[in-house]
Amino acid sequence: MKHLRVSCREAEAARHALERSGVLHSAYLPQREGDSVLWPLCGAADGDVVEREPRLCQRPVGDYRQQLPSTLRKLAPRGFDLLGHAAILRLSDEAEPHATLIAEALLASHGQLRTVALDSGVDGRWRVRALRVIAGEDDLVVHHRENGLRFEVDLRQVFFSPRLATERARIAALVRPGERFLDPFAGAAPFAVSAAAAGAQVLAADGNPAAQRWAERNSALNNLSSENFEFHIALAETLLPSLRDFDRVVLNHPTAQLNYLEPALAATRPGGSLHLYLLANRGEDATAETAAALVERGRVEAQRLVHPFSPGRELRVLDIRRGSS
Ligand SMILES: C[S@@+](CC[C@H](N)C(=O)[O-])C[C@H]1O[C@@H](n2cnc3c(N)ncnc32)[C@H](O)[C@@H]1O
Repeated sequence: MKHLRVSCREAEAARHALERSGVLHSAYLPQREGDSVLWPLCGAADGDVVEREPRLCQRPVGDYRQQLPSTLRKLAPRGFDLLGHAAILRLSDEAEPHATLIAEALLASHGQLRTVALDSGVDGRWRVRALRVIAGEDDLVVHHRENGLRFEVDLRQVFFSPRLATERARIAALVRPGERFLDPFAGAAPFAVSAAAAGAQVLAADGNPAAQRWAERNSALNNLSSENFEFHIALAETLLPSLRDFDRVVLNHPTAQLNYLEPALAATRPGGSLHLYLLANRGEDATAETAAALVERGRVEAQRLVHPFSPGRELRVLDIRRGSS
């Protein structure tokens, strides 16, 4: 798109002149380039006219799929994850050959978006998302706001899911000021930071060495101090056996949670709470699989849906109360 390049000093005068002659494109943002401002044009203008990628400043009314050819509309997903400037899309096998077209429609529909990435799911030991940028800037360090808190994370380095926001708010609302809170699978520490912001004394850890930078950054972004937020790089199997007497433990490793249930329960004080995240088949009770580990030591008080995971499966949380023995 054509833009008029003027010096910053002349920017306001140039804007008035372009508005008066009706050639300032109001749907796009001006851009800064060194000491110059670039005004987007919808008509001819005199001066230093340059070609640049436009930056949309307002969201067109309606659904981004309206911008796609009708044959593609039904293939493009209605939903996607928004994390700061990035949209994370999952596509069906049928839609994948049209990924770029779908991503560009999305990018053009949301003024705040700069990056669209295709998600092939979480994978590997550290559950990091396999992402491929398919439109916009190759930048997956996102600044995300959630429940009044700020988070920053490199999505290529550490697990992060905005779909857990409601669950994090629920857990934070259960926190009593001063309680001891343990998160041994903390990642970039969104649960741990939410609990510390609600007044808990938090010990957070993760095995992924890249998690430390983002967990500490998130602690700092939310003005937490080292007195109520501590983070370590540690494997849960090494860390958990040495811990006792936590008021609340969050066990958020839904593909391997049962391996850690016994030591996590031992780290919970009698009468304390353990929140266990697991993947369950829709419509099936998930408490049976925990029964062997709980025996007399704990009781499932509630089983809740966190979010759908795949056709037929869902992420659930079991709220477990540790018994007195
Ligand atoms: C599903 S993610 C949850 C992260 C975080 N609680 C959140 O909500 O964003 C599971 C986390 O467990 C970590 N992890 C996997 N195996 C581990 C282990 N053996 N010890 C410690 N952390 C581990 C991964 O690096 C990942 O950050």
